Amino acid sequence: MSGHYDVDAVRKEFPAAERMTYLDSGFQAPLARPVKAAIDLFLREGLETAGPKSVWLDRVEQTRAKVARFLGVSADEIAFTKNTSESMNIAANALRLRAGDNVLMVHGDHPNNAYAFLNLQRKGVEVRFVPMTDVVDAASFRPHIDTNTRAISMSHVTFHAGHRFDIESVGGLCAEKGLHFIVDVMQAIGVVPIDAKAIRASFIGSGSHKGLLVPQGLGLLYWDSAHAELEPAYLAAASLAEIPADLIARPDKLTPAPSARRFELGNFNLPAIHALGASLDLIAQIGVENIQNHCFDLGDHLIAALDALDIRLVGPRERKHRAPHIYVVALPAAEWLGYFEENGVRVSPERDGIRVSFGMFNTSADVDRLIELIRRRGVKTSSKVAEKAA
Ligand SMILES: Cc1ncc(COP(=O)(O)O)c(C=O)c1O
Repeated sequence: MSGHYDVDAVRKEFPAAERMTYLDSGFQAPLARPVKAAIDLFLREGLETAGPKSVWLDRVEQTRAKVARFLGVSADEIAFTKNTSESMNIAANALRLRAGDNVLMVHGDHPNNAYAFLNLQRKGVEVRFVPMTDVVDAASFRPHIDTNTRAISMSHVTFHAGHRFDIESVGGLCAEKGLHFIVDVMQAIGVVPIDAKAIRASFIGSGSHKGLLVPQGLGLLYWDSAHAELEPAYLAAASLAEIPADLIARPDKLTPAPSARRFELGNFNLPAIHALGASLDLIAQIGVENIQNHCFDLGDHLIAALDALDIRLVGPRERKHRAPHIYVVALPAAEWLGYFEENGVRVSPERDGIRVSFGMFNTSADVDRLIELIRRRGVKTSSKVAEKAA
């Protein structure tokens, strides 16, 4: 089922989806055949030729250009990192915040974003949390901004309940108030279309093992090159504008690269970057809007089925405020996770229930399988809609 693309054909690229009901792409994506093929090629080249490094590095630049196209930015504004946490730490430390400055964040947002800024408390920077509600937009932050506020940092999509926050409105507020805006798009990327310039962020960070389909260990960092004053806190030869030809470090030549390479350190995770090139091709063939719309349709189907069983959805219900692919069902994880696992359904435990998260390969039959298992076992009143009102 899909009015958006040939899901059955796409599903064939994900063998794990045939072996189980995989509803856990918000945790990690199953490996897709084209992604594996890119890693296999790298391994074969390494095995047979000891590595054509120039070919490998060309592929890095091709992938960088693909990432840039995907986000609507210049390739010079993209750096490869290790994961979201590293991207957020690079961003937090490039802002050069001082004692007395404050940063606004959303309470309960992903810890990998929060700790990058909380660590700056050691320098006297204050982190203020605004409450998390179903809708977080400019109005949520405006009353908390004062003359010492320097930045807002937040996730685009929450991992624990599937909120999709209005980051464009928050970006507009930051532009109006002269604040830096830093966004963690880890849960959104690959499913929600991202127009980096429309967000007006100084930095956007992500990993790549969810919607971007690459095994763990590769991150992305977008840096708005209009902010040339934002310099890296760490330095390696790769970060420099001029790498000395004799590879002897010069204390007086530390100017960082004019591009986002200023934020890169040392050698790359080559097989993962090559894999990302393949996954971006797959996503481009399908179209990220189509993936989004397909996941929204699956979400509508899931919500209707939960309503019919009178089971509560934890996060926002409306397409305007919810992520297309992440839904938390108010079933206690301790009671339900093992049951789903025994029955070949992979989901994640979350703060307030069981997280169901879709990938491009899921179908309505996957949702039906989950619902059938819930119906068969029956639910207690604590998961029911009436309980929320009480
Ligand atoms: C919003 C968000 N940020 C970051 C991460 C992961 O951080 P990292 O890429 O550093 O492992 C996750 C989930 O794993 C997430 O949901």
